[in-house]
Amino acid sequence: MHLGRKTLSKFLIENVSGTRDGAALAALLVDVAAAVKAIAALSAKGALGGATGTLDTVNVQGETQKPLDVLSNTAFVNTFEQGGLVAGVASEEMDEPFPIKAPKKRGPFLAIFDPLDGSSNIDSNVSVGSIFSILHAPEKGEPRTADYLQPGLKQVAAGYALYGPATLMVLTVGKGTHGFTLDREVGNFILTNPNIEIPADTSEFAINTSNERFWEPPVTRYVSECKAGKTGPRERDFNMRWIASMVAEVHRILMRGGIFMYPRDTKDITKPGRLRLMYEANPMGFVVEQAGGRASTGRERILEIVPGEIHQRVPVILGSRNEVDRVVQYHAEYDAGTDKPYESPLFSERGLFRS
Ligand code: F6P
Ligand code: MN
Repeated sequence: MHLGRKTLSKFLIENVSGTRDGAALAALLVDVAAAVKAIAALSAKGALGGATGTLDTVNVQGETQKPLDVLSNTAFVNTFEQGGLVAGVASEEMDEPFPIKAPKKRGPFLAIFDPLDGSSNIDSNVSVGSIFSILHAPEKGEPRTADYLQPGLKQVAAGYALYGPATLMVLTVGKGTHGFTLDREVGNFILTNPNIEIPADTSEFAINTSNERFWEPPVTRYVSECKAGKTGPRERDFNMRWIASMVAEVHRILMRGGIFMYPRDTKDITKPGRLRLMYEANPMGFVVEQAGGRASTGRERILEIVPGEIHQRVPVILGSRNEVDRVVQYHAEYDAGTDKPYESPLFSERGLFRS
């Protein structure tokens, strides 16, 4: 029992009062928490809940859907449709955003979400999550797709839920980043991690190195320098992590620092990155910046990108600010033709493996 500790509802009432549509925003985030609790309960049942395995449907991203992808999407859609607080909803799992038709059921916000991030992990019982982003809706009428295409700086709230050993919600309403842990028996989210701060420095990086041959030179340079450790230009050893679940990765970085990269690559030249701007990069960028970190494509601050289309993909480099700044600097040097690619001593003039 955590009586006397701050619940999510109380935190929201205290933190959004006096802002534009503040009471409605607090109510909307309480609705998000209700959907999250439903998804947490479903995912915790594992195979017993019939949510494992694969469906034969493919989403708009060309990815095969899992039962839990679809159930989580439905949990959010029903919550938003019934809640009366949004004018429209966009989901990573749906081809097009949909407007709330009945004017009386329409609220002042747009909800954008990735219902189940990292869903390739479900069958192996590794952490997955949900990501959400809230924008102001146009003042009047049904929203059109163009109304969602606002830069990340316009978000009024964003956050994620992590379905791990404990279920957590981490969110920002533009006044710092705060973490809440679900007390499952009682059903309340309790403020356990107020004012999260990402350490500015780190010796931990996260990247899918199986894509190395497709990376751009500034990313190869950065990762080679990390791997060279004490014997390289960084003069200290680095450690590496890759969970393949962005929510879990970002949460680790919020808790102890680190840098996460899904950079631009040439694996599929029609896609400038793997992650989606509206559903993943913007909300996570907002959460990370509010915790003192940075979020960039390598060449541009994520939150300043003017979206061109709802399912747009972007390169993502985020986390501890001094490391993200370094990767951004390597991109700038590469673009200016002044970079110095790292050359391992093993392959240099007098190295062991010189060809
Ligand atoms: O939603 C995309 C996602 O599942 C992220 O959660 C994760 O960071 C990434 O893709 C994993 O990509 P890969 O399968 O290439 O490791
Ligand atoms: Mn995702």
